Amino acid sequence: MMSNRAVLVMLAAALGMGAPHPAAAGDTDPEALVNALNAVFGANPGKRAAHTHGFCVKGAFVPSDEAGKLSKAPHLSGKGPWPVVARFSMGGGNPEAPNTQKDNTRGIALHIDLGQGNQTDMVLISAPVFVAKTPAKFLELLQTVASKDKDRIGAFFKANPESTLQKSWLNARRVPASYATTSYFGVHTFTLTNAAGAKQIIKWKLIPKAGEVGLSDDEAKTKDPDFYRPELVERLARGPAEFDLTAILGQPGDARDDPTAFWPEDRTSVVMGTLTIAALEDDTVCDSNMFDPTNVSDGIEGPANDGIFQIRSPAYAVSFSRRNQ
Ligand code: HEM
Repeated sequence: MMSNRAVLVMLAAALGMGAPHPAAAGDTDPEALVNALNAVFGANPGKRAAHTHGFCVKGAFVPSDEAGKLSKAPHLSGKGPWPVVARFSMGGGNPEAPNTQKDNTRGIALHIDLGQGNQTDMVLISAPVFVAKTPAKFLELLQTVASKDKDRIGAFFKANPESTLQKSWLNARRVPASYATTSYFGVHTFTLTNAAGAKQIIKWKLIPKAGEVGLSDDEAKTKDPDFYRPELVERLARGPAEFDLTAILGQPGDARDDPTAFWPEDRTSVVMGTLTIAALEDDTVCDSNMFDPTNVSDGIEGPANDGIFQIRSPAYAVSFSRRNQ
């Protein structure tokens, strides 16, 4: 089942009312963002406007003993295993985005089934930062790229150097050899609250237990652009793919509302549990619903003034309602 907010934003989008969104998202219209994504990547009827190329899997999440000390959220303080439906994807709206591309993010989106019709979601990418600080900047970036005007594009990145950080970070690393051998980051800053009311700011990071395994540029060239799916099928036939869900603990002064800002490398982490991906799932299971980053449980709170975080849910609702028309 979806959160009330997800239902509300989807209804609003379906009725063409424009989805409601908090003031922190500023004046940027979620529909304009989806239109701009379509202008860059093409509109692909029946498909997501972003992270279009992907597939559905299933597994389970089991929290660690430490997790409940930081958050009272049911899946972190309870026992588990909690059933999970997940989707791996390539960033951007190209339905054939090559799995061999280095400077593109990989994504993982999770529905964690909390029982009694409730679920909580996580939507992460394989880079610690996003490409724009605010929805208005993301809209400007997409519209600039859609113009294909090299001078305009160059001027945008010169004026907004934070928008180059994700690409540089990805280019400094290898092409992930598998969806199961890359780390995924929540990017935004969340606040955890435990049963005693103590609060801690954190960033999510999923770390593959198989290690971060990458391909050299030459190895990547020998791979089929759609090799991740058969690779995972083969891998899962040998055993499940596992990830540690970790919470990177923030300190006073660490950026809370800027998805383009890195936290210092030396922050400590707590292992919050194990995500196990056991098998592929029918894609209709992932497509019949949207993964909503704001659908968090009591005990986990999204950032209050991060406009990118605020506008994601209404933008996803626009994409969801269009792909279901
Ligand atoms: C203003 C900023 C953003 C916009 C407008 C945006 C837009 C979208 C849209 C339209 C979708 C497709 C939703 C659907 O049809 O269900 C999507 C999916 C996705 N986005 Fe974003 N996004 C933004 C920021 C981010 C950030 C910061 C992250 C990572 C932390 C992220 C990660 C993902 C992932 C992993 C998916 C795939 C979800 C799935 O498999 O269904 N996005 N995004």
